[in-house]
Amino acid sequence: MTAPLTVVTGGSSGIGLALARRRAASGERVLLVARGRERLEAAAAALGAEALAADVAHDDGIAALGERLAAEPRIGLLVNNAGGPFRAPLLDHDHAAARDAVDLLYLSMVRVTGLAWDGLVAAGGSVVNVVSVAGTVATGSAPHYAAAKHAAIAWSRALHVEAAAVGVHVLTANPGPVATGAFPHDRLRGHRWARHAVIDDGACAERILRALERGRAESFQPEWWRAAAVAQAVAPGAMAWLARRSRRRFG
Ligand SMILES: NC(=O)c1ccc[n+]([C@@H]2O[C@H](COP(=O)([O-])OP(=O)(O)OC[C@H]3O[C@@H](n4cnc5c(N)ncnc54)[C@H](OP(=O)(O)O)[C@@H]3O)[C@@H](O)[C@H]2O)c1
Repeated sequence: MTAPLTVVTGGSSGIGLALARRRAASGERVLLVARGRERLEAAAAALGAEALAADVAHDDGIAALGERLAAEPRIGLLVNNAGGPFRAPLLDHDHAAARDAVDLLYLSMVRVTGLAWDGLVAAGGSVVNVVSVAGTVATGSAPHYAAAKHAAIAWSRALHVEAAAVGVHVLTANPGPVATGAFPHDRLRGHRWARHAVIDDGACAERILRALERGRAESFQPEWWRAAAVAQAVAPGAMAWLARRSRRRFG
């Protein structure tokens, strides 16, 4: 029987590519999904993976992906990872940035998981939802990003419960700052102590896969970022003060 497929959205770069590289290196069949064909096809060729260009932020961007996943009898792992920064102001007149953030960072997970569902259930597979520490604490500098990630984290936690009933495992992964193309974190990396908070995409991928192997429901990369989520829950006033301070310093 053919081995189950690993599907990685946002697999052409950063955390998604680092995860895909590790799955391909352990002999898995891997399908990379992203919009930009050139980078996607180069990444897939380097890994011996399959490439499929799709825009997961829109219902009408995923027809080809739907057909491909419907033809796949068993999906061992789906990584919902496609994303990018949204640093638009909180109050724009037509709310376009808020809508775009929700479409990419939250609804894309709902869309692609729906397409992969039958294959995941058939394989008794796993889903990794790459959310963020920003799904547990909100800073003022990227309000729509934080709001969409909060929605994604709630959905991912609920999916964990629903999916367990049919033998599918769901891991909510919450990276802290990871230096990637879309998120270079230059100001953090230029700071004498804050630079230690930034990890690279390979280290992030290793931590996510370790948490998956251990059957964790939710993990942070690195794990000490969990303290931020706990602090938000027990001391929201102190966290708001800290967020105001860090916005002045790091933007
Ligand atoms: N880096 C961090 O500090 C950090 C921290 C916490 C969480 N995260 C999350 O980690 C995920 C990956 O980010 P990254 O840092 O690895 O960024 P990245 O290197 O820029 O990778 C983003 C990937 O998503 C793809 N993508 C973007 N929009 C897409 C769309 N509409 N449809 C399909 N694919 C799309 C990109 O390819 P195309 O542009 O060609 O489509 C690329 O492959 C994101 O969800 C991000 O929010 C990142």
